Amino acid sequence: MRRLAPVLRQDGVDTDLIALIKTILAACKEISFRVGQGALAGVLGSTLDENIQGETQKKLDVLANELLKDMILETGVVKAISSEEEDNTVAGNPQGRYLVTFDPLDGSSNTDINSLIGTIFSILPAQANLDAADPAQFLQPGTAQLAAGYVLYGPSTMLALTTGKGTRLYTLDKTYGGFLLTQEEVAIPSVTAEFAINMSNQRYWQPGMQAYIGDLLLGKAGPRGKNFNMRWIAAMVGDVHRILCRGGVFMYPTDTKDPNKPDKLRLMYEANPMSFLVEQAGGASSTGYQRIMDIQPVDIHQRVAVILGSKHEVDSCLKYHQA
Ligand code: AHG
Ligand code: MN
Ligand code: MN
Ligand code: MN
Repeated sequence: MRRLAPVLRQDGVDTDLIALIKTILAACKEISFRVGQGALAGVLGSTLDENIQGETQKKLDVLANELLKDMILETGVVKAISSEEEDNTVAGNPQGRYLVTFDPLDGSSNTDINSLIGTIFSILPAQANLDAADPAQFLQPGTAQLAAGYVLYGPSTMLALTTGKGTRLYTLDKTYGGFLLTQEEVAIPSVTAEFAINMSNQRYWQPGMQAYIGDLLLGKAGPRGKNFNMRWIAAMVGDVHRILCRGGVFMYPTDTKDPNKPDKLRLMYEANPMSFLVEQAGGASSTGYQRIMDIQPVDIHQRVAVILGSKHEVDSCLKYHQA
């Protein structure tokens, strides 16, 4: 089985970028070890703090954030980082060629039940004309991403990675200590009968999404003419991993549950990197009205509606959004 670095070299990835990805993965290996130790390492449970997103931080959110931030900034090739758990961007080397955004721990509510969680990251080019402390340097559309990936802390620790040459899956070999290529080319089936959405928010959705899910639930008797199955892991990283493995559609639509927060998922830390991985695997990703990777960000912490996965099913959902 092939190691990560030779695969990236073969894909023509820049040496500094390979070193940066390896550093992110070194932090993830450390997180994987701590997650694996669970209560033995005293890493479960919450802190008394709230993050910029208005969420109570879990101990693992903070630990993962600190590990990633410190190790990434130490590389010297990174101009600044932006994280779900940081109020502001953090400046690195003014000469650094890269910017890194990350969701240090996705699926925080799964930490205390020994269920799926992960780390999501995205690498953007640094902007020569902007200061290392300027958050505006991060306001680039998802199409500008140089690399994106996630590490899933599951029964196996797995990496999904794209540098724009397809999406590949790697598995952490804990005896050797590195990630080995276990699926060279991910191809999401374009047709599916599986959807993922938090159904408890149904009454808060917009009419288009209500109508779409309503038709899926009618199954064979409805206009779709087939029965659908549902899955919800409550960690986007787990739901997207399932979609990369066997197809499906994942949605976190706009809702009116909290008028101050119509969308849940974060563009820079969740939606953009996942969209890059999904598109590179032949899937689609949209807000319902626009391709996610075409969005021009206006704020590092901005949120978006997300509909991603099997192409035909995403297209079916989009039809319900046309007025
Ligand atoms: P995070 O743990 O990084 O804050 O993200 C949680 C997100 C996402 O991973 C998941 O799909 C969604 O929240 C779960 O939402 P519900 O609480 O509605 O199930
Ligand atoms: Mn969170
Ligand atoms: Mn998340
Ligand atoms: Mn998170």
